[in-house]
Amino acid sequence: MLDIQFWQKYFQVYDVLNELKPYDDLLETITQKLYTQQGDLILDAGAGTGNLAMKLVKNGARVTAFDSSEVGLKIYKTKNPNAINVTGDLLKPLPFAENSFDKICSNNTLYTLPREQRMSVMREFYRILKPGGLIVISNLTESFSPSKIYSNHFVWEFNNHRVGAIFRFFKFLIPTIKIFYYNSLIKRENKTGAYDFFKKGEQGELLASAGFKEISLDEKVYAGQGIINVAKK
Ligand SMILES: C[S@@+](CC[C@H](N)C(=O)[O-])C[C@H]1O[C@@H](n2cnc3c(N)ncnc32)[C@H](O)[C@@H]1O
Repeated sequence: MLDIQFWQKYFQVYDVLNELKPYDDLLETITQKLYTQQGDLILDAGAGTGNLAMKLVKNGARVTAFDSSEVGLKIYKTKNPNAINVTGDLLKPLPFAENSFDKICSNNTLYTLPREQRMSVMREFYRILKPGGLIVISNLTESFSPSKIYSNHFVWEFNNHRVGAIFRFFKFLIPTIKIFYYNSLIKRENKTGAYDFFKKGEQGELLASAGFKEISLDEKVYAGQGIINVAKK
């Protein structure tokens, strides 16, 4: 079980991901697909350490960062003293009124939730999104291999920074090994059947069943290890 203690340890090294080009590209893609603009009320569901929230805020949005991990949200608060943090459980009814948000995003969070409960989470997203509002969901897929993300990054790093790439490789070696290890734990959970990475088309089906419309086709993100979908209420 990936409990709160697991995510606490995970977050001690999590932000090394900010150094990785595929992760930064993924957050940029989500920000763009949300057409993030000044004054948007956005919910980041499973905000973690607020890396995506930071990008949205930089674009002028008013972001509510929702997560069950106080450790993650505290790290976000150190990055953004004005952070609007709400600690809570996505598996319970969400503490927001109907039609509260212009936009909702959730990155690499739903895959950590038991498959049979994802539908009710999606229905909650539908309830709290304003009519016409946008939702962007991205998750790791079945074939997820962390090494593909790292190799993709280091090819980019080497092509862009050459000598500096080697220095940076050693600088981030230990936290990178730790993140690899934690990712292997997540993957092992997956094999026990407790958690399932998303199958092709599955996010779109969830969105459709919850009532969302204009659902985009699956698009690969995160060095091909994730899928993103956009939809409207
Ligand atoms: C892999 S992290 C992704 C964090 C962030 N979205 C990002 O892209 O960097 C998964 C997040 O889901 C959160 N999470 C897992 N189960 C949750 C639940 N039941 N309710 C709320 N958040 C949860 C974890 O605390 C963690 O922050």
